[in-house]
Amino acid sequence: NQHSTALIMIFGATGDLANRKLFPSLYRLYQKGKLSRFAVVGVGRRTLTDEQFKQNVQNSVAEAIDGSKDLEAFASHFCYHSHDVTDSSSYAALKNIADDLDNKYSLGGNRVFYLAMAPEFFGPIAIHLKQDGLTDVSGFKRLIIEKPFGHDLESAKELNEQIRTAFAENEVYRIDHYLGKAMVQNIETIRFSNAIFENLWNNRYISNIQVTSSEVLGVEERGRYYETSGALRDMVQNHILQMVALLAMEPPIRLTPDEIRSEKVKVFRAMRPVEGEDVKNYFVRGQYGKGLVEDQEVPGYREEQMVNPASQTETFVAGKVMIDNFRWAGVPFYIRTGKRLESKSTKIVVQFKDIPMNLYDKKDQALTPNLLVIHIQPEEGITLHLNAKKAGQNMEATPIKLSYANTGIASINTPEAYEKLIDDSIHGDATNFTHWDEVALSWSYVDKISQAWSSTTAENFPNYAAGSMGPKESDELLEKDGFFWWPLSQFEVDVC
Ligand code: BG6
Repeated sequence: NQHSTALIMIFGATGDLANRKLFPSLYRLYQKGKLSRFAVVGVGRRTLTDEQFKQNVQNSVAEAIDGSKDLEAFASHFCYHSHDVTDSSSYAALKNIADDLDNKYSLGGNRVFYLAMAPEFFGPIAIHLKQDGLTDVSGFKRLIIEKPFGHDLESAKELNEQIRTAFAENEVYRIDHYLGKAMVQNIETIRFSNAIFENLWNNRYISNIQVTSSEVLGVEERGRYYETSGALRDMVQNHILQMVALLAMEPPIRLTPDEIRSEKVKVFRAMRPVEGEDVKNYFVRGQYGKGLVEDQEVPGYREEQMVNPASQTETFVAGKVMIDNFRWAGVPFYIRTGKRLESKSTKIVVQFKDIPMNLYDKKDQALTPNLLVIHIQPEEGITLHLNAKKAGQNMEATPIKLSYANTGIASINTPEAYEKLIDDSIHGDATNFTHWDEVALSWSYVDKISQAWSSTTAENFPNYAAGSMGPKESDELLEKDGFFWWPLSQFEVDVC
C-alpha cells in the first residue's frame, strides 16, 4: 500500500506529546498492519543515542498499552537526530538521514513531518525544510502541525505564510484533536443519517444548543503557556467552535474534506461578530480561586506555578454564539469551558422547543422539553429525552430517556483521537483537520472578544471557586434569555 509507506519525522520527539500520544498511536497502527513500510526519525534538542531513543519509544508504548508485544521490532524502525531547529547546518544532516532511510526502506519519497513542539518554531522549521531540500521529494509530503496555530489572526496569518512557502494548503494537516474524538465525528452521522433529527434541526424546533467542555484539572505545569493563552484561545477558538460548526453546518453534498470544510466555513462566516461594549452581553470570563476538588483543597489560579499573582488570564469562558442564517436565526448556541470545574465532561445538549400546551395532569406545569444529548467524554453515547405516561392510573407525563452507549466491542476498537488522526494524515484524508479558512475565521471571531477583555480589567477575578461550575455570570447569561445550563450530572448513558 503506497499510501501507508512513509518516512515520519517527528520534531519534539523527546517531548510529552510524542511520548504519551504519538509513539503509542504509531504502535497501534503498526500492530494493525496499517503502516506497511515506514521509518521514524525523532528530532529533538536533547543528545540521545539511537539506542536510548529506541528504548524511550519502547518504554512509552509499554506504559500506555497493557500487554504490548513486539516492541523491539517496532522500535527498530526508529532513529534519532539531535538537532537545533534554528541551525541550518543541522538540516543538511537531517536530509542525509532522511534520504538514506528512504532508500533503505524503499519509502517512495513519501514524507510526513510532525511538529510536536513549541509553536514559535513552527514557521522557522517549515522554512528550513524547504530551503534545505527536505521537502524536495518524489512522493508526497505532508505537514502535521499541533495547536496553537498562532495567537491571534495576525500571528496565525504570519505562520500560515511561512508554512505555505514549503507546503500547499492540501499538504497541511492542522490538528484539532477534538475532531479525532469518536463522538465528535458522530455529530455528522447523527444529523445526516436520521430523518427524525435533520427535519427538526433548525430554528423552528430547536430553542437552544449548549456545548460544555469542563475540566477538573487546573493549569498544572503549563502556567507559562496558559498565561499567554487563556481559555478563549486555548479551547474556544479551536475545539469548541469546531463543535459548533459541526452542529450548525448545512448537509454537505458529499462527505469529502472539501465539501465538509466549505459548509463549516459558511457557519463561521455567519457567526454574529461580538465586539467592544457588546462583548459583555454575549461573553463571560472567569478565573478560579482556591477551592475543593475531590475533597482536597487546591490553590487558585494566581497561586499556580509560573502564573502572575495578579493575572488577568481567564480560565473559564461562557458565551452565546449567534449564527445569523436562515436555519439558525434566533437560536443561541451557548458554549462553556473551564479549568478546575466540578467534573471532566464534554457534552452537547440540544434543547427542542416546548410543545404548545400540556394536556396531561398538572396542566399548569410545563412539560420537560425534549433533549438530545451527545456525550463526547468521558462516556461516549447519545441520550434522547422524551416524555411518556407515568406508570399507574393517572394521566401524567413524565420524562423518560432512550440511551445509546458507544461501548462494548465497538468502543474497545474505537481508536484514540491521535491514532485516528495520524492514520488519516498518512493516508491523505484531511476530513478531520482544520482548513486555513476555518482557522482564520475563528481567530477573527475570537480576537474581537479578547481585544475587549484586554482593554478592561476583570476586577472580580478570581470569581469562581475551584470545584464549582464557574462564575454566577455564566448562569445569568442564560437566565436573561429564559434558559439555564442543564446540569450535566443528570445525564447518564446507560451501559447495557
Ligand atoms: C488542549 C488544551 O487543546 O485540550 C488543554 O490545550 C486542554 O488545555 C485539552 O486541557 C483538553 O482536551 P481533552 O481531550 O482532555 O478534553
